[in-house]
Amino acid sequence: MQHKAWLAGFILLLGCQPPGLNKDGSPRFVAQERDLIFSLSPLAEPPANPSNRWADDPQAAHLGQYLFYEPRLSVNGQLSCASCHNPGLGWSDARPVAVGLGTGTRNSPSLWNVAQQRWLFWDGRSDSLWSQAIQPLESPLEMGHPRADVYALFQREADLKAGYEAVFGPLPPNTPAGIDRFISHMGKALEAFQRRIRSGESPFDRFARALRQQDLPAADAALSVEAQKGLRLFIGRGQCILCHSGPHFSDGEFHNLGLPRRPGQPEDPGRFAGIAALKRDPLNALGAYSDLPANDTWADKLRYVVQQPENQGEFKTPGLREVAQTGPYMHDGRFDTLEQVIAFYSTVGREPAALGRREDTLQPLNLNAEEIAQLAAFLRSLSSGPPEAALTQQPKSVVFE
Ligand code: HEC
Ligand code: HEC
Repeated sequence: MQHKAWLAGFILLLGCQPPGLNKDGSPRFVAQERDLIFSLSPLAEPPANPSNRWADDPQAAHLGQYLFYEPRLSVNGQLSCASCHNPGLGWSDARPVAVGLGTGTRNSPSLWNVAQQRWLFWDGRSDSLWSQAIQPLESPLEMGHPRADVYALFQREADLKAGYEAVFGPLPPNTPAGIDRFISHMGKALEAFQRRIRSGESPFDRFARALRQQDLPAADAALSVEAQKGLRLFIGRGQCILCHSGPHFSDGEFHNLGLPRRPGQPEDPGRFAGIAALKRDPLNALGAYSDLPANDTWADKLRYVVQQPENQGEFKTPGLREVAQTGPYMHDGRFDTLEQVIAFYSTVGREPAALGRREDTLQPLNLNAEEIAQLAAFLRSLSSGPPEAALTQQPKSVVFE
């Protein structure tokens, strides 16, 4: 990871000279703090993905939405993407680890704002949403449906075939390359749908907007004093913003937090294995099924990533928008509540890391109960409300009308 030394230095400075409070007890944010706050809001449209020609195609998004909720895509006809990414459960499943055909070892991430992610999966083993989507389809622990069988399903079922052909043209020939082309199209439609899963304005965004306009009564109305104090901790003494940065609250990178080993749980190398899998994935952005123009710099992230020993035990920094709805937390779902996550940051390092070495930037924060509650109140202010109703169910027809 890149050490943002200047930011760390500045945060240290803030820690030594706590700036004052307003009359109502809310923090009086100084200019440097305001700049950090403004760096977190508002959330922009997701970045373009030139490796998928259909990323922003409405017909592909319609097909993708149909497929997302379609149990025929699983080998037992009972599971869909929505089984583990349920819009009513924060686009996740409220379980510590995923349960599909079998039980996995990792937590189902929320799909809120998923198109803001630079890498996909906790270990970053996919570089695009479309190549990601193929893995749960085929995984024997998830939907268990090898691509050739999914292809046969589309040959057999007239409605699915018509839906596919309306977007991508005739089903490719029944050859290994044809089937790879078909399955990459499935992923591209699923990406187009998932790009629509976006947060609206949260209380924190309203607060930041009011602060920008120097409308302090409106700022106070948007965010409680407790949450404002939590915000000050988030950008200051808590150093959370070192990794949970930008309007998506993630630096898009991987870190070893030194989470202790849990008895009975397998050792998880995280990013270390993820880089190797990404490089050899024939469906990555440099592969034959990517729509990326030659020499496009979008894939530089893939070209230049190199596996290093310190990647052992690193996991992706999750975004924090809507985080109040998306528990349990961490890659293995070990914490049920936000307070437990914050208590971990407060005492980090008491037990040895499960694997690899905890990053030096993380030092125990020694927060008291009041401060833990303040940080949690701030995290809860990042919720914008339920997802857009139009996205939360399967469309009536697979073909776009
Ligand atoms: C059995 C539960 C299950 C099903 C079914 C499932 N997923 Fe997931 N999903 C997971 C888990 C667990 C992970 C994280 C796995 C990992 O990091 O190794 C994940 C990761 C993801 C991610 C990466 C998110 C991120 O922040 O990195 C996306 C996107 C996603 N799934 C979309 C889908 C789509 C699309 C489907 C249907 C084709 C699907 N999932 C089916 C459990 C499931
Ligand atoms: C060194 C980088 C770093 C810093 C600093 C950091 N985080 Fe994290 N955060 C991460 C990573 C990486 C994960 C995922 C770790 C895992 O699952 O193994 C994570 C996970 C989380 C989660 C769980 C989210 C989810 O969906 O599972 C929350 C909540 C969170 N952090 C809040 C905070 C707060 C609050 C602070 C400040 C007190 C903070 N983080 C500081 C990198 C960081």
